[in-house]
Amino acid sequence: MRRIAALTSGGDAPGMNAALRAVAKVAAANNVEAVGIEQGYEGLIDGRFVDLTVRLGPERVRSQREVDAAGGLGGTILGSSRSERFLDSKHREQAAMGLRDAWIDGLVVIGGNGSAAGAHAFAPLFPVVVVPASIDNDIGCTRYALGVDTALNTIVEACDRISDTARAHKRVFIVEVMGRQSGYLAMSSAVAAAADAMLIPERHRTEEELLDSVEQVIRTSFERDRAKKRVLIIKAEGVPYPTTRLTRDVAERVAGDLPDVEVRATVLGHLVRGGSPTFRDRMIAGRLGLSAVAALAEGASDEMVAWEPAVEGGTATRDPSVHRFALDHVLADTEALLDGSSPVTQRRVKMTEAIEGVLAL
Ligand code: F6P
Repeated sequence: MRRIAALTSGGDAPGMNAALRAVAKVAAANNVEAVGIEQGYEGLIDGRFVDLTVRLGPERVRSQREVDAAGGLGGTILGSSRSERFLDSKHREQAAMGLRDAWIDGLVVIGGNGSAAGAHAFAPLFPVVVVPASIDNDIGCTRYALGVDTALNTIVEACDRISDTARAHKRVFIVEVMGRQSGYLAMSSAVAAAADAMLIPERHRTEEELLDSVEQVIRTSFERDRAKKRVLIIKAEGVPYPTTRLTRDVAERVAGDLPDVEVRATVLGHLVRGGSPTFRDRMIAGRLGLSAVAALAEGASDEMVAWEPAVEGGTATRDPSVHRFALDHVLADTEALLDGSSPVTQRRVKMTEAIEGVLAL
């Protein structure tokens, strides 16, 4: 292997740059050049390549200093996209030709489940290995995707700040966090921020059920002898009840007998996706990046490197925390995770139901 390429795709996630840095440094250490591709699969189709390494001699390669420095930055220095064109085989063939013309032998795709599907479609044309990165933590086979830890830390900090002001006015706050189809961020942060309730799409509750449960939490919390100063409810973006409407509906329900209680909404949105990656995201990015380059060097393709596998199987690597999984397995497991048939999702739902009473205390 003489040259590899890497791209970042889909929603950016803190840790993507740390993974790029790892790919560049590990490649350089093995006398392999690394090339970055701008704007994800869009740049791949159009051949937008930038050097991540510098060749110093026949046996000497080093990483670009800008790439070294970027490891601590959020976002992605290469840019990202959700490419419609890459769904078309004609454009995937153009992309593979561009890589071969640039003497590139393998591709690392750093991204979420849409990016993994793209990589699986590309694998018959070109060797490709995926590094899971998505704040939503909705990728099959891996317990962990890059960006999740940073996003959770950001949410918890935001909730602490909101709690400060909420306590001053004895207010209810409904805080919406990202997670298009997955309630992972909402459920994990709810525990860490000591929220009073969490609303996640996996429970498939109707609007009426959601409204009843939020009303109940507010009423119980503000019972006279409980001396609660704030109510914090964390809601996942994927719950199909718009946060502003839910907030208004709840406020109307309690207005009559709790006239002093105000219900407010805060949508954290993209705030949660930015920021410097935490230690954990950087460490995992480094180890997954290393394993991805090693996989390509061993001739693997159509695979993902997973952090602490969430399912049986996969191929062990030299890193005890990293296993490799075929992408068709990853995609099937992702589907099960999102449609609720996965034991991982079922366990999460059971846990949230079990802790509901504890949260509301
Ligand atoms: O991919 C993760 C994610 O942040 C989701 O939680 C969110 O729904 C989506 O991306 C937002 O994507 P965009 O930035 O393209 O609107």
